Amino acid sequence: MFSSRVPADLAVNGLSRAVADAYADGRPLIDLTLSNPTRAGFEYPDYLLSALADERGLKYEPSPFGLVSARQAVARDYARRGLTVSSDRIALTASTSEAYSLLFKLLADAGDDVLVPVPSYPLFDHLAQLDGVVLRRYELEYQNGWSIDVGSIERALSPSTRALLLVTPNNPTGSFVSRAELKQLQAICAQRNIALVADEVFADYQVRPGACVDAARVLDATDGLVFSLGGLSKTVGLPQIKLGWVAVAGASGLVDEALRRLELICDTYLSVSTPVQAALSELLTRGAAVRKQIQARIASNYRTLADRIEGVPSCSLLVADGGWSAIIRVPSIGTEEDLVVDLVGKGVLVHPGYFFDLPHESFLVVSLLPAEDQFSDGIDIVLRHFRNL
Ligand SMILES: Cc1ncc(COP(=O)(O)O)c(C=O)c1O
Repeated sequence: MFSSRVPADLAVNGLSRAVADAYADGRPLIDLTLSNPTRAGFEYPDYLLSALADERGLKYEPSPFGLVSARQAVARDYARRGLTVSSDRIALTASTSEAYSLLFKLLADAGDDVLVPVPSYPLFDHLAQLDGVVLRRYELEYQNGWSIDVGSIERALSPSTRALLLVTPNNPTGSFVSRAELKQLQAICAQRNIALVADEVFADYQVRPGACVDAARVLDATDGLVFSLGGLSKTVGLPQIKLGWVAVAGASGLVDEALRRLELICDTYLSVSTPVQAALSELLTRGAAVRKQIQARIASNYRTLADRIEGVPSCSLLVADGGWSAIIRVPSIGTEEDLVVDLVGKGVLVHPGYFFDLPHESFLVVSLLPAEDQFSDGIDIVLRHFRNL
């Protein structure tokens, strides 16, 4: 009766069971997997959402890519980051996840494949499967910093490859694509006639000062076909508002063709509510106050982690340039699954490396978003576990 797009086995794993037990027993748990900014103790200005009551929200004037005023607001937000993008080349979506789904429909037939980085964002599996698209993986490698193994892209390509996906900065490695890497990726895409899709949802956040400025600029492309994804979830810490966007760049003929086709897809769903479109300019402007707090938080927590880990020789912190996560290499004394379940027993929840397909054991991934005192207490519990090894 059911499609194979949804996995038949939705079983709960050992970690989820341990967490549920801890909460059921009323045991306190410091959550270092927190990725929801609205639960991380930031001060959201009380006037932040007032623009949602704008009376333009009372009129329905369906427009596949969204209201011109809202698309212009996104173009201004790119300009804030030093990027020139015409509002004609911007389409609004209900989220970045939806943007992926729209682009899969635009670029791939059922059974075609797209290349995704490993380690990276675990939702790719579901996003692709729900659209009947196959994932093929290319690798990021770590040597005192992350880089893209371009050879692994060549190996992953197939005659059915339709797009190369990139997350910059990547979740959870925190690595931005470098200019040299981007050049190579663009050459591969041009040669194979495939699109480059860059998820830039974390582009505002750096843990290394200067990392945002050093990062490659995917939307400067004038050849091929390039998509940049962004959204309110991360840039102003408002995932519940449900608004993302796609910006398109590349050779003008290809861009026009892509926009014509994308317009039909967006017109079929018309999924972005009018009040949020009417409010978008204000949300992006006022949300800067939230972005500033998130930036300060992630930089401070990364520094705390770097300081604390110095006292624990068996553990090391992988170098990150940006994003909201950090990766800790820890001794392999059992499986990552057993380790994170043990840590839940000690009062802290962290992600095992395998959750993000980190290549071999043992790694822990922590969110840099929790309040500083919680973060510091949680990290102390994690590191105490390894102190005497
Ligand atoms: C790399 C990456 N892309 C996209 C998203 C989701 O964004 P949205 O809430 O706009 O769907 C996330 C959420 O964590 C993410 O880590």
